[in-house]
Amino acid sequence: MTVPTHARVLTVPLPDHPIGRPSVVCVIREFDRSDHAAVAAIWRATGQGVLDEDELRTTLAHGPGLLLVAEQPAGVVGVVLGTFDGRRGWIHRLAVDPAHRRSGLATALVAEVERRLADRGAPRINLLVLPDNAAGLAFWQRRGYLPYPDVLCSKAL
Ligand SMILES: CC(C)(COP(=O)(O)OP(=O)(O)OC[C@H]1O[C@@H](n2cnc3c(N)ncnc32)[C@H](O)[C@@H]1OP(=O)(O)O)[C@@H](O)C(=O)NCCC(=O)NCCS
Repeated sequence: MTVPTHARVLTVPLPDHPIGRPSVVCVIREFDRSDHAAVAAIWRATGQGVLDEDELRTTLAHGPGLLLVAEQPAGVVGVVLGTFDGRRGWIHRLAVDPAHRRSGLATALVAEVERRLADRGAPRINLLVLPDNAAGLAFWQRRGYLPYPDVLCSKAL
């Protein structure tokens, strides 16, 4: 595992070991094109829509440095995508491999994307969660994201 200069490095408990037992280094770093297959597999495994390479290229051209992955020596195990529309930051497609949950990986990914969005001047971050996603809602509320009554409206162009 190569650790880029500006990556955040943290240690997380190994899966199947309680906190305090052996831990493993995890790197939070920017997405690289070679990560696409691993990221797509995580999105698929967590029931999220997969952004193909062209969509990701376009998204990253508008907001470089906001697609982050969590990588352990065994490979990429988590992902988050941030965007900034000039007024609000948005977080999309947060997902952690089911075998690596409750180790703080999503927390670390979100903390880093929040930091990057704040650096770009975003005063607030919005995101969408399906109402039946209890784990997702619990996670976001723990991080201070509270539900708004607004209803999402959308139109294809
Ligand atoms: C939601 C998700 C990203 C959380 O990833 P994670 O790495 O396990 O999260 P963390 O370990 O950082 O959890 C931090 C805290 O969030 C809360 N939380 C996380 N998962 C939870 C769950 N399944 N049930 C209740 N609370 C949960 C807990 O308070 C947890 O702290 P704790 O473990 O000390 O109790 C992960 O479950 C996932 O990939 N789900 C499928 C995709 C998804 O729903 N994404 C979000 C959609 S918007």
